[in-house]
Amino acid sequence: MKTGLTQIIKNYKQDIDSSNNLNSLKKVEIKYLGRNGQLTALLKQIKDLPDQEKRTHAPALQQAKQQFTKIYQKKEKEITATKINQELNSEFFDITLPNLNPSPSPRPGTIHPLATVQKEIEGIFSEMGFTIIDGPEVESEYYNFEALNIPASHPARDMQDTFFIDHPKDDKHGHLLLRTHTSPAQIRAMEKYGAPLRIIVPGRVFRYEATDNTHDSVFRQMEGMLIDKDISLANFKGIITNFLSRLYKKEITIRIRPGYFPFVEPGIEIDILWKKGKNGQLDKWLEVIPAGMIHPHVIKAGGLDPNIHQGWAFGMGLTRLVMIKYQIDNIRLFHSNDIRFLSQFK
Ligand code: FA5
Repeated sequence: MKTGLTQIIKNYKQDIDSSNNLNSLKKVEIKYLGRNGQLTALLKQIKDLPDQEKRTHAPALQQAKQQFTKIYQKKEKEITATKINQELNSEFFDITLPNLNPSPSPRPGTIHPLATVQKEIEGIFSEMGFTIIDGPEVESEYYNFEALNIPASHPARDMQDTFFIDHPKDDKHGHLLLRTHTSPAQIRAMEKYGAPLRIIVPGRVFRYEATDNTHDSVFRQMEGMLIDKDISLANFKGIITNFLSRLYKKEITIRIRPGYFPFVEPGIEIDILWKKGKNGQLDKWLEVIPAGMIHPHVIKAGGLDPNIHQGWAFGMGLTRLVMIKYQIDNIRLFHSNDIRFLSQFK
């Protein structure tokens, strides 16, 4: 048995040495250690040996079995490492090389329709002598309401549901909030530039209200204001009809009706006829441009004398003007980030 074992160990080492992949290694393992393997056969014979011989051969066979496993594991590691290295070498590529086979050019982005129309409107008003200014999105109760003739107890505060900011109250300016309209810029502009004044103020406004096809909680407005001497609503009507015909480049139907806003007197609303009804005729009005003569209290809050200066102001629903221009019947599409919607606007 001893000579048989010595020969088996020798053969095993040779077979392991000549294996160069995991498949042939597995075969060697089966040849010696499998159910019918050569070493297994010797191990099986042990139980039939007399006790004396059992004691001599069993430890040698057990030792051989452990040795076989060690040799096997060492070789398995070597083969695996060589395989990984070969794969790494064959997969190497130089990322600094120029791309000789470029894919089709990337799809260019498009300008958001709100931005396009805002730019266009800014261009039209600039040509009419208006300056474009900005106002802060985080405003104070004072500028958003109080200075606009809407004191704390005034029911008109409920006309615009407000997002308040969790911040200590300031005695002069009240709470901080997200502006509900661009009108606070009227006061800021009068304070900063005095009169005469011709400005437009585009920007985002925020309202804590339920959304539907024509109402969003974040939308754009554009404030407009003209202050000078001897100004009347007739002057406003001339400017706004000129503006609308330039924006839509076709005849559109508007209606002017009285409207109530505490910061103007008188106040009006301009609606545009925009959607076709079941009979195929345009029959739906959209409220887009509220306006009016600036209330004397507001002129005063801006630091001017209402006996000398008058003016008009409007706060157009910029987002709604874009809806009319492109016949978009759901306002929520603007902030949906849906590429199918956005890619239609070149
Ligand atoms: C105001 O915000 C006044 N500051 C406008 C104003 C300015 C009047 C100066 C007089 C003088 P109003 O809440 O109606 O008014 O909003 C103005 C316009 O914004 C509306 O006509 C409408 O076109 C648009 N708008 C109002 N709420 C929403 C909304 N939730 N989503 C989209 N557009 C809206």
